[in-house]
Amino acid sequence: MEKPAETQFPIQDLIARRWSPRAFQPKALSREQVGALLEAVRWAPSSFNEQPWRMMVAERGDAAAFEAMLGCLLPGNQTWAQHAGLLMVSLAQTRFKRNDRVNRHAFHDVGLAMGQLGIQATALGLSLHQMAGIDVDRIRQTYALQEGCEPVAGVAVGYAAEPESLPENLAERERAPRQRMALKDLVFTGTFGHPWLG
Ligand SMILES: Cc1cc2nc3c(=O)[nH]c(=O)nc-3n(C[C@H](O)[C@H](O)[C@H](O)COP(=O)(O)O)c2cc1C
Repeated sequence: MEKPAETQFPIQDLIARRWSPRAFQPKALSREQVGALLEAVRWAPSSFNEQPWRMMVAERGDAAAFEAMLGCLLPGNQTWAQHAGLLMVSLAQTRFKRNDRVNRHAFHDVGLAMGQLGIQATALGLSLHQMAGIDVDRIRQTYALQEGCEPVAGVAVGYAAEPESLPENLAERERAPRQRMALKDLVFTGTFGHPWLG
C-alpha cells in the first residue's frame, strides 16, 4: 500500500513515500540490506561529530536474538512487530566521550540518524516503523547497558504487507489517511505563533 505525503510544496520522492506500516511480511532481510541500513545510521551528522547513536539489532534469522528483542517491546507493538524482518533498539550515549559532560543533543542526533535510516529503508523498497512503546528497564537488563547509555526507541524494518494481514482494529488504522499539521501552524517568523506562511 502506498500513502504518499500530500505537500504544499514539492519534496523528494523518498521522503514523500516513507510511511510507517504495521503490516509486515514475515521475511528476513539480506546481510547487504541490513548493512546498508546501518551505514545510513553511521553517516548521520551529529553535534561535535560525537555520533552518540548505538544500535542493538536482532535479525529474523536469529530466532533467539529476535525473541529477546521482541520481549523488550510493549505488548501492543509486539502484536505486529513480530512479523518484521529486523528489529532494532536505538540507544543514546548521553555524555561526551572527551569530558563526560551531558550531551544535550544526544537524543536529537539519534533521531536524526533514525530519519536517515527511514529514508534508506524506503530506497531499498523496505518499510520501517519506530516505537516509543518499549520496556526500557528490560532493555537495560537484556543488553547489560551501562550508566549513560539510554534506550531511545524500538525500530521494526521489513517488507510491508497488506493491511488485511493485521487484526481488524490495526487494519483500520493502517488504511487511515496520514495526517500532519499545516505549515502555518508550525512554522513562525518574528514572534512565536506568527505564521511564516500567510
Ligand atoms: C519516536 C517514535 C515513536 C513511535 N512509537 C510508536 C509506537 O510505540 N507504536 C506505534 O505503533 N507507532 C509508533 N510510532 C509511529 C508514529 O505513530 C508515526 O510515525 C506517525 O503516526 C506518523 O506516521 P507516518 O510515519 O506513517 O508518517 C512512533 C514514531 C516515532 C518517530
